[in-house]
Amino acid sequence: MKKVAVIGLGYVGLPLASLCARQGYKTVGLENNPSVLTQLLAGNSHIKDEVVDGLLKEALTSGNFTPTDDLASLSDCDVYLICVPTPIDEKHDPDLEPLENAVKTISPFVNKGDLVVVESTVFPGTCEEIVLPLIEEISGLKSTDFYLAHCPERINPGDLFWNSSNIPRVVGAISQQGAEIAARFYAAILGGPVYDVRDIKSSLSPKFTRNVEGELKVAQVALGSVTMMRSIRDAEAVKAMENTVRDVNIAFVNELAKISDVLDLDVVDIIDGMATKPFGKGPFYPGVGVGGHCIAVDPEWLKAAANKAGYMPELINLARTTNNQMPAYTISMLQDLLNECGLPLKGTEVAVLGVAYKRNVDDPRESPFYPVRDLLLQKGAKLNIFDSWYKVENTVNSVQEAIENSSAIVIITEHSDIIEQLKLIDISASGIKVIVDGRNCLSEDIVRDWDVLYRGIGRRATGN
Ligand SMILES: NC(=O)c1ccc[n+]([C@@H]2O[C@H](COP(=O)([O-])OP(=O)(O)OC[C@H]3O[C@@H](n4cnc5c(N)ncnc54)[C@H](O)[C@@H]3O)[C@@H](O)[C@H]2O)c1
Repeated sequence: MKKVAVIGLGYVGLPLASLCARQGYKTVGLENNPSVLTQLLAGNSHIKDEVVDGLLKEALTSGNFTPTDDLASLSDCDVYLICVPTPIDEKHDPDLEPLENAVKTISPFVNKGDLVVVESTVFPGTCEEIVLPLIEEISGLKSTDFYLAHCPERINPGDLFWNSSNIPRVVGAISQQGAEIAARFYAAILGGPVYDVRDIKSSLSPKFTRNVEGELKVAQVALGSVTMMRSIRDAEAVKAMENTVRDVNIAFVNELAKISDVLDLDVVDIIDGMATKPFGKGPFYPGVGVGGHCIAVDPEWLKAAANKAGYMPELINLARTTNNQMPAYTISMLQDLLNECGLPLKGTEVAVLGVAYKRNVDDPRESPFYPVRDLLLQKGAKLNIFDSWYKVENTVNSVQEAIENSSAIVIITEHSDIIEQLKLIDISASGIKVIVDGRNCLSEDIVRDWDVLYRGIGRRATGN
């Protein structure tokens, strides 16, 4: 039985470490943030997520999980899973420092035959060109002495179905033997089958089949499966590229939303209409901006790698720019609606609903909230901010409190509690004159009864 070390107990590392412990592996969780560690040692998760809570409870009950900041506890581990952040810097360039630090931390403890897996999202070439030489230099081992693999995490925080225990994985390694060892390790944790990517192509790729009743179904790879890629670079590229596909598609629907705005169309109805076509990918929806540690970040890593290799991917660049401009687009929409009511943005109180980058998560990284807030403050608006999942300075305690003295609402995050609270308020009787719905989350049926000017992103105007 192997002893596992998970480096970094965040959104990715904490559920992963918990899974390993639940499956019977003695698991050390190395975490260098004292406040995170204190909470974990008290038996509490620092992440607000039902699935993570459940996994952590099981891990602690198993007696196999030890959160720690003590490097000595790495000394007898055989498997190292690196789950540290891979952010971008102010110039949007990849910031490799946390990854390099984590590799430097584990390398003195890596022995012959050990498995090292980078789970953090990286650009193609990172493991071979940065991680491998560092481990070799510090440990004194050769690349053939240990197994270096990449198995990118694909969780979708806040998703009650897809989580660390069932999301299909891909794995690639420096050697074929390393890929097989890593795949077997993940199969033991996840309990799913192992595929070779070459077999997936012919037999398992999503395709339409009919079930016994004749109903059309999409065939998918099995829950918790592990697919072996032919190279570690391909495994790195799967993650970087799948998130870039999403980013580019969101940029594209954001453009469709702008076209809809000038042509008086309703982009959400149109996308729902298009989604009835039973093949092709999607649907994707427009919004106030793209956030989180993946979609807003991974394309930058891919761009940087391609650029370094002499090719500037113009479409990805344009997609990034398009999505980064959505907060400003949303604010210009707000300004137009306030104009119609004879209100200047300067001095007007605006209820900003939502800080987190997406619905029902407590993660604010790269959230469009920040550019929206900064733009509104620059223009002299006064802000009343509410988010029960993630608090920033001066956050108020309820939607009611946020709108009390406000003339406008901007929705940044469609948390369920925000929508529920909004539905309970008599908006027409409040001082709200304008609503800009950055997530197109309010249905026309609700808004029609309110005496306000309402705009979504790319939605036909509603209101009196
Ligand atoms: N958050 C997601 O939804 C998600 C999904 C898939 C993949 N990823 C990728 O997974 C990686 C981790 O993301 P995350 O969201 O879990 O980040 P996170 O910030 O939530 O967690 C990382 C943790 O690592 C700790 N840490 C950093 N350096 C350390 C070190 N040297 N030693 C010990 N602890 C250290 C930090 O204190 C933090 O608690 C990133 O590459 C990200 O792109 C994230």
